[in-house]
Amino acid sequence: MTVEDTPPDPQTWHYGVVARWWAEFNVSGPEIAYFQKFVEEDGQPALDMACGTGRLLIPYLRAGLDVDGCDISADMLALCRERAEREGVSPNLYPQAMHQLDLPRKYRTIIVCGGFGLGGNRQHDLEALRRFHDHLEPGGVLVLDNEVPYSDARQWRYWLKEDRGSLPEAWPQTGSRRRASDGTEYELLSRIVRVDPLSQGVTLEMRGSMWRDGRLIEQGEHVLQMTLYFTNELMLMLVGAGFSDVVLRGDYTESEPTSQTDFVVFIARK
Ligand SMILES: C[S@@+](CC[C@H](N)C(=O)[O-])C[C@H]1O[C@@H](n2cnc3c(N)ncnc32)[C@H](O)[C@@H]1O
Repeated sequence: MTVEDTPPDPQTWHYGVVARWWAEFNVSGPEIAYFQKFVEEDGQPALDMACGTGRLLIPYLRAGLDVDGCDISADMLALCRERAEREGVSPNLYPQAMHQLDLPRKYRTIIVCGGFGLGGNRQHDLEALRRFHDHLEPGGVLVLDNEVPYSDARQWRYWLKEDRGSLPEAWPQTGSRRRASDGTEYELLSRIVRVDPLSQGVTLEMRGSMWRDGRLIEQGEHVLQMTLYFTNELMLMLVGAGFSDVVLRGDYTESEPTSQTDFVVFIARK
């Protein structure tokens, strides 16, 4: 039996100003080269599931790799498409939630970077794993990262009922504020609304604001629902979805994860 008290439709905050922030500032990171080698080593065609604004996808296409992209957020995909056009590549981009994945191709590799557990609840995530399995060719590989539930000290304290009573957090006075190359200023504020240790569901809110020439031109609030998974739990979920030979790596290295690892990478074969 699974206990859930979350809404049936996936909810993610990657829209409006939040999507613009991703497109503007999230363009690098060790994940790009790490996931790329799975695609290069007999891993084409590949699907970048939850591709967002193309942080991984666009460099892969530029490198001549055969990779499709899929994401729930039309805003993230629109910005991905804009960047692709600027950089002279033309990916197949599909607007789909991962638990509804239904694409015309089968893949040698499916990568999910920073996307698994977002938007929905445990039922959605179990269905997503089954669909990833269906969309792989025999012998194909799913490479998926998962931030461990205890990596974020601010969030982890709300697993305790003594601390949970203070939720929802108040909106912070200031957040991350950055200026883009064209002078546009962006600010993101976030707060934790709900942590349910039974379902392992967390609800967060983000308020994004955007200024041009000192004038506020766009502001919006968005909700992110997510489910946190422990490493052995996700391992069992992958086996239940039909995967075998699940190998674990820590923090985008060749090493096995340790108790210090924040991001466990699951390499699971069909
Ligand atoms: C943290 S971003 C990562 C984007 C990209 N993979 C990267 O590493 O730059 C998470 C992405 O997952 C997408 N997403 C969230 N929930 C989803 C769901 N249930 N199905 C498909 N995509 C989802 C969001 O729209 C967002 O683009």
